[in-house]
Amino acid sequence: MYSRKVLEHFQNPQNMGEIKDADGMGEVGNPQCGDMMRITIKVDDGRISDVKWKTLGCGAAIATSSVMTGLALGKTLDEALALSRDNIAQALDGLPPAKMHCSNLASDGLRAAIEDYMRKHPEANN
Ligand code: FES
Repeated sequence: MYSRKVLEHFQNPQNMGEIKDADGMGEVGNPQCGDMMRITIKVDDGRISDVKWKTLGCGAAIATSSVMTGLALGKTLDEALALSRDNIAQALDGLPPAKMHCSNLASDGLRAAIEDYMRKHPEANN
C-alpha cells in the first residue's frame, strides 16, 4: 500500500500550479497510462528558485510531483538534473512496485524544464 508520506503529499500537495513567467517549461507524458505533467521553473544565480507542477494523473503522480518540488528547490541545475526517479520514490518512503513508474514523470518533467531553460540560456551551460 501507499506510505504515509504519499498520502500526506496527495492530500496536501505542495507547489501545485504554473509559473506564468517561467524560465523553463517541461511537458512529459506516460504512454502506458496517458497521464501528463507540466513542470515550470524559475532560475536565479544558477539555482532553482521556484518550481511548480500541473499533473493530470494518478495519486502517485501527484504525490511524486509534490515531493519533487521540495527536493529541487534551491538546488543548482546540475544537482537538480541528478535527481533520479529513485531519489523521488525514496523521499516518499517508497512506492508500491506497480506505481514506481509514476515517479518517472516528476524526474523526467523536471529534467525537461531544466533542458528547456538551458536551450534558452546557452550561457548557463558554461
Ligand atoms: Fe500514470 Fe501513475 S498511473 S503516472
